[in-house]
Order: sequence, then structure tokens, then C-alpha cells
Amino acid sequence: MSKLTEKEIKRKIIVTTALPYANGEIHLGHVTSTYLPADIFTRFHRLKNNNIIHVCATDDFGTPILIKAEQEGKTPVELVSYWNEKDRKDFEDFGISFDIFYKTSSEENIQLTQYFFKKLLENGHIFKQKVNQPFCEKCNKFLPDRYVKGTCPFCKAEEQYSDGCEKCGKTFQPGDILNPHCAICRSEPVIKESEHYFLKLSNFSDQLRKWLTDNKNLQKEVKNYVLNWIAEGLKEWDITRDIPWGVPIPLEEAKGKVLYGWFDNHLCYISTALKYFAERGKDGKKIWNSSGIYHFIGKDIVYHHYLFLPTMRIGVGEYKLPDFIPTRGHLLFQGQKFSKSRGFYISLREFLDTFPADYLRYYLTMITSYGQTDVNFDWNDFQSRINNELVANIGNFIYRTMSFIWSKFDGIVPDPEKYSDLDTSFEEKIWNIEDEVGNDIENIQLERALKKILEFSSHCNQYFQKNEPWTGGERAKNCLYLSINAVRSLVVLLEPFLPFTVEKLWKQLNLQEPLHGLGWASISKFIIKPGHKINKPEIPFKKVEDEEIERQKDKLKIKEEIV
Ligand code: MF3
Ligand code: ZN
Repeated sequence: MSKLTEKEIKRKIIVTTALPYANGEIHLGHVTSTYLPADIFTRFHRLKNNNIIHVCATDDFGTPILIKAEQEGKTPVELVSYWNEKDRKDFEDFGISFDIFYKTSSEENIQLTQYFFKKLLENGHIFKQKVNQPFCEKCNKFLPDRYVKGTCPFCKAEEQYSDGCEKCGKTFQPGDILNPHCAICRSEPVIKESEHYFLKLSNFSDQLRKWLTDNKNLQKEVKNYVLNWIAEGLKEWDITRDIPWGVPIPLEEAKGKVLYGWFDNHLCYISTALKYFAERGKDGKKIWNSSGIYHFIGKDIVYHHYLFLPTMRIGVGEYKLPDFIPTRGHLLFQGQKFSKSRGFYISLREFLDTFPADYLRYYLTMITSYGQTDVNFDWNDFQSRINNELVANIGNFIYRTMSFIWSKFDGIVPDPEKYSDLDTSFEEKIWNIEDEVGNDIENIQLERALKKILEFSSHCNQYFQKNEPWTGGERAKNCLYLSINAVRSLVVLLEPFLPFTVEKLWKQLNLQEPLHGLGWASISKFIIKPGHKINKPEIPFKKVEDEEIERQKDKLKIKEEIV
């Protein structure tokens, strides 16, 4: 058997992104922290010819969905299938390239969740206990988590849901909330007994601590945060809800009760990946356990992904824990916190109706670092980055090279002659850029990668300028031959970031092989040969005008006033 070099071995990677609740629109906050970084990462590995899949689904169960359905006079099934379709379309138009987009209410996920429950019970990690549950006599029902609002027992923020505080980020048990009232009719609930199931998180403190410490891929700041929670002592976790919408608890004695949404939703990463592989005749479990597992999330759901999720996997012991949980900060808009309830936010759809998806992908990538610091979307900054970087730098180099060849050489790439020093050092730049950018993407440092591409493009512009190809002769030929190859390299480098633009540019380059055929490894190669004919080039990016930005700012003001 021949020995494969490291480069030839195909890596197996499973990427998941936090599942959007199936009760509202995808907004810019979601895509900034989660879907866009995951998509860039996935597209990069596809170009590297690795076996990577990006798995996502809608998060269908839980009280908020039930409440929303009730408000809209729909069944929860109708509501979630509506949002599943809508999200799917929004993601597609933004270029998020899932390999599978499914749902937590699927038969597969219900079964896996019930299996996990039974295993955890068998293994002695689940116990039951009578709890005093708030019950609204006016509405005649138990009021779990989001049906009860009140004051946070930790930071005293008002109007918080009873399962956790949006202000300080702590999660707590229903029942711990101060000044409870029914979210529907606002009357004060009475207390009634109900039998609930609890997962003993405290059984896992040592294993969790070990996993957190041993796993060197997890981000330090988040890790320390979580280690503190463990040090403070983990509480038992109530995994039961007295509502009719969720995964039924698979026990005769628990009829009418369902599992909490955070018990089943992350299992959908697994059940959906298994479905994907099963449909292709493969053993998904085996693949899961031998793949690199990446769960991309926003920092608001750290608690769930660093405690609940690993606990359940450790407790069942059949599915590998995550290797990476890339966690990013919140998106601020014009310096303010996004708030759906206050109407201060921009939906993805709204943005896509006005600007090309790639503008948003470019801008958001540039402003989002790999960490927990919040990111600020600013309309003026957006405009200046698009105009100065995308249009005047990257777009300019691509277009000036192609249009020069088109108009001065009849679209035919010239034959280079003896290289000058400038040519040789430019050639070297093209050789090196593949690894420089690739290493950053590999390490999920996406804004660093994009900045390197931008620097490369600046360099290309300078090279072009210094060679003055308009003076003709040998210098022009070398310059255009090298530049058109640099354009092709740039196009491949940009594919993970700007897939829509790249698709068009690839056609204009008129190459025989598809982009994915040549792949990432072709960046440092000179694929375009002398004599190759390109197609008529088009300007890849257009300037964002002042009036458009003013219009956007006014729109936001109107929203603020409504609030
Ligand atoms: N729906 C949850 C939210 O928006 C995220 C679920 S991610 C999963 O906060 F891991 F639980 F699936
Ligand atoms: Zn009520």
C-alpha cells in the first residue's frame, strides 16, 4: 500500500450551527456569530477536498413556539413548517450552503432523544421528584418557563422569563424567579404539584472539568467562564415540561409530559447528521465518532453547549464530544443591542432586498473576530469598507486586469518573456498566499484571513501600477500574464467569503475545469496559460451611494420611534 502524504488524506469534518427557533426571522445577529463563520469554514474545506458537511435544522419544540402558535391561531406543526421553509430560503439567498437542513421535531430526532433519556435513566443519571409548578387558574394550565415572567433572582432585571435571564445570562429553575406572573393573562399563578424528571449534572462535574481542561481547541475565555460555573456547583437540571408540544417522555407514568427543548435540540445535530449519512448508505455513527466535530454558536448559548450538551453525551457514552465550539459575540447595531422585542433589528431578508449578499458577507466577516467581544454594525463603516476595499481595491484589480486583456489583447492572455525583479517577487507572492490565508481559516481566524486577501489585492494593484502595462512591450505581457493568474488565485481565495461574485467571475475567466475541480491547492499555481481566451469582463462590485446609507439610517430611526 502506498503511503499517503498528509495532504492526500481526506479529513472528515462535521460542522453544525445553532438551530434557529422556528418562530421568527433570521436576523443579522444570527448570521454574524454563527452561520456565516461556519459557512466560510465549510466552503474552505470543500475546496480543500475534505469530507465536510454542514448540518442545521429548525428548533421546533418548546414553550415559545407553542405560545406563538396560539397567538397566531395556528397549530405548532403549521407554525414550525412555515418557518422551516422561510429560514431555508433566507439562508440560501445569503449563500449559506447547508448539506442538510432538517428539524428537531423529526421522527429521527424524537427517537434519538427518547433513546438518550432511557440510557441516562438506566445509567442512573435521571431521578424524579415532585415539584411545585406555577399553575394559572385563569388559563387552567401549568406555566412552565416562558409562560411565567418575573424578576431575575441574580441581577434583579425585570420581565425575564423564568428559565433564564437575558440580562446577566444565568439560567435558573422555574420557581426561582421573583414576582412571577402569567405571561398570557398576567395574573399571579398558584402553586400545584407535578412530577418532574431531573438530570444530575453534578454527577458529571469531574468529567466535564477534565474534558474542558484537556480539550485545547476550546476558547480560553469561555472555558474559564464554564469552569467557574462548575466550581460554584452544578445544580440538578429539570428536563420536564407540562406542555403538549415536545418530545414525549418515553414512560407510561409520564403521560402528557414532554422533555425540555434544550434536552432534545442539540441532539438534532446528531440525528440530522445520521440521517444525512444513512441516506447515502453510510454508517453515520461511525463517521460521527471519527470526524472532527465543530459546533458554531453565539455566546448567549454557552451554558447549554458547554454543560448540557457534553453532559448528555458523556452520560450516554456513544457519541463523540465536540472538538471545537467556536463561540462569537453579539452583534450591536449602530452601537446598540439588537432587540427583536423592541423592533430594533434588521432581518436578513430586509438586508438582502437592498444589497447583494456578498456585501454583507464581506462586511460582517471583516468586523467579526474569533472571540466573545461584541461586534458593531455601523452604516458609515459598511459604506466605506465596501467602497474602499471591495470596490476600489479588490474589484479594481480584477476588473482592470481583465478589461485590459479584453481591450488591448483581444481577450487573449499574452505570452510572458524574461521576468523582471518585480515579476519574480510578485510570482513569489502568488506562491505564498495559499498557505497564509489557509492557515488562518483552518484556525477559524476568518477576519484575519480576509484581511490577508485584501493586502494581497493591494499588492496586486501596486504591481500593476508600477509595471505601467499601458506603455506596452515586454513589461505589459509579463504583467498581464502574472496578473490574470493572480486574479484567478484571488477568485479561489474569495470563494468561501463571496460565493456569488466568484461564480460570475469564474465564468468570465472562461476556465475549462470547475472551480471546485481545481480547488484550494490551485491558488499557488499558474493555471491560466498564454493564449487562453477570457470572456467579456464585468465590473464585479458597485459603489454604495450616500443616499442609500441615509435611507437605511432613516429606516432605523422610524423603527426606533415605533418602539
Ligand atoms: N434555538 C436555540 C437558540 O436560538 C439554539 C439551539 S442550538 C442547539 O438559542 F444546540 F440546541 F441545537
Ligand atoms: Zn394566565
